[in-house]
Amino acid sequence: MSTEAAKTEVGSYFISNYPPFSQWSGDALAHIQSAMANPPLKQLQRDGSSQETPLGLYLHIPFCRKRCKFCYFKVFTQMNAEEIERYVSALTREIELVSQQPVMGRRPIRFVYFGGGTPSFLSVKQLQSLFQRLHQSITWEQAEEVTFECEPGTLSESKVIALRELGVTRLSLGVENFSDAILEENGRAHLSKEIHKAWDWIVAANFPNVNIDLISGMVGETWDNWRENVRRTLELSPESVTIYQMELPFNTVYSKDLLQTQQAAPVADWQTKRDWVRYAFEEFQTAGYKVSSAYTVVKDPSKVSFSYRDNLWRGSDLIATGIASFGHLSGVHYQNVPEWNQYLGALLDEDRLPIGRAFVPTKDQSLIREMILQLKRGYLETEYFQTKFETDIAERWKDVWASYVRDGFAEMKVDSNGHCNRIELSMDGLLRVDALLPAFFEPQFRGVRYT
Ligand SMILES: C[S@@+](CC[C@H](N)C(=O)[O-])C[C@H]1O[C@@H](n2cnc3c(N)ncnc32)[C@H](O)[C@@H]1O
Ligand code: SF4
Repeated sequence: MSTEAAKTEVGSYFISNYPPFSQWSGDALAHIQSAMANPPLKQLQRDGSSQETPLGLYLHIPFCRKRCKFCYFKVFTQMNAEEIERYVSALTREIELVSQQPVMGRRPIRFVYFGGGTPSFLSVKQLQSLFQRLHQSITWEQAEEVTFECEPGTLSESKVIALRELGVTRLSLGVENFSDAILEENGRAHLSKEIHKAWDWIVAANFPNVNIDLISGMVGETWDNWRENVRRTLELSPESVTIYQMELPFNTVYSKDLLQTQQAAPVADWQTKRDWVRYAFEEFQTAGYKVSSAYTVVKDPSKVSFSYRDNLWRGSDLIATGIASFGHLSGVHYQNVPEWNQYLGALLDEDRLPIGRAFVPTKDQSLIREMILQLKRGYLETEYFQTKFETDIAERWKDVWASYVRDGFAEMKVDSNGHCNRIELSMDGLLRVDALLPAFFEPQFRGVRYT
């Protein structure tokens, strides 16, 4: 039942939400407007009581020095200082407008995520000005985590110090690979010496949590080089490491080239990419790290969590700000407009929120969303879904689970009454988790374009 081609084909994607983005539309805008205009909904707890829904904030900074040939994010590479300033003004105004919405309630912001693009593309001055302006309308003093994504070559010692002073607690560094030939081939803007320079500043600034991103299956990757990537990452000893398996969604440079030339992708097949991640997980485990999801190993889970991911996967609210960014408030999915002029025009000329499309999931779709996201951790607790969605997920999808158990991807754990209380993925299952998820999609969303 796993839905995977052996080769890495154009059109593969990373599942981060449900129902697929392609199904969201402008017709549902009234629903997100109404969600924003009303107090927040509460979340049902295990003991039957209800509690405030955790609230997070995502800010999209869409600038990069260069477009990597594998990248599928909304990024701009040719913007001048004046255009960046207009963007920062629009983002500031957006946050001001959102902060006035009743849906905020009196909730503190529990986690903040500066993603991109490359947030570290902004200069120290631009960053200080952005934070200062944001804090005029919003505070995240009580946030347990402030993540900031960085591309190594955009960092300087003063920028790293400024980020720490501005309250960043989790710095995520896009290393991707340590081989200069591979970095260059894949269109990365940085080389390995910039990783090492940045690393010394990062260590000196003493962030509570530093994450390194790697990609298994960059063009040109080999076993020897991959072992070297793992060895050098271990040498740096970050708190966590995130390893993505290379995807080729439609909008990457590589995908467009491949579709034009009708050639096979020069990216390793899925089995090889999984073998590389398996090898990396084993090496990190030998060094004391724990596997915390299909993509992540963590040095000390008792000290370091990943609040953004864990909250989002349990149905928290997320305010999405910045161009094309997507969020979720009071049970409604929404996404901002994806074009530069539309985004700036909405905020700076029309003084309104730049939301472009939305979707109101049914309760069943919210259940599926949480289940497939939480499965990426490697296990599901059935009681959580029974309490929150009144559904026995083991029973409801018993045929799918049975086929995954047969294939060696999953195991059903039972309590003393013979009732399944936990579903666990094997390492084989975890490494292909994205291919296991579409089996839980409703029939109308199988085979549709994802974004
Ligand atoms: C927004 S970027 C991180 C910050 C910064 N822009 C950078 O690249 O250093 C998020 C991460 O997505 C991953 N990524 C981007 N395109 C990918 C693809 N096609 N397949 C797998 N992972 C990808 C990379 O590991 C990258 O670090
Ligand atoms: S991977 Fe990062 S640096 Fe490269 S284009 Fe995408 S967002 Fe920019």
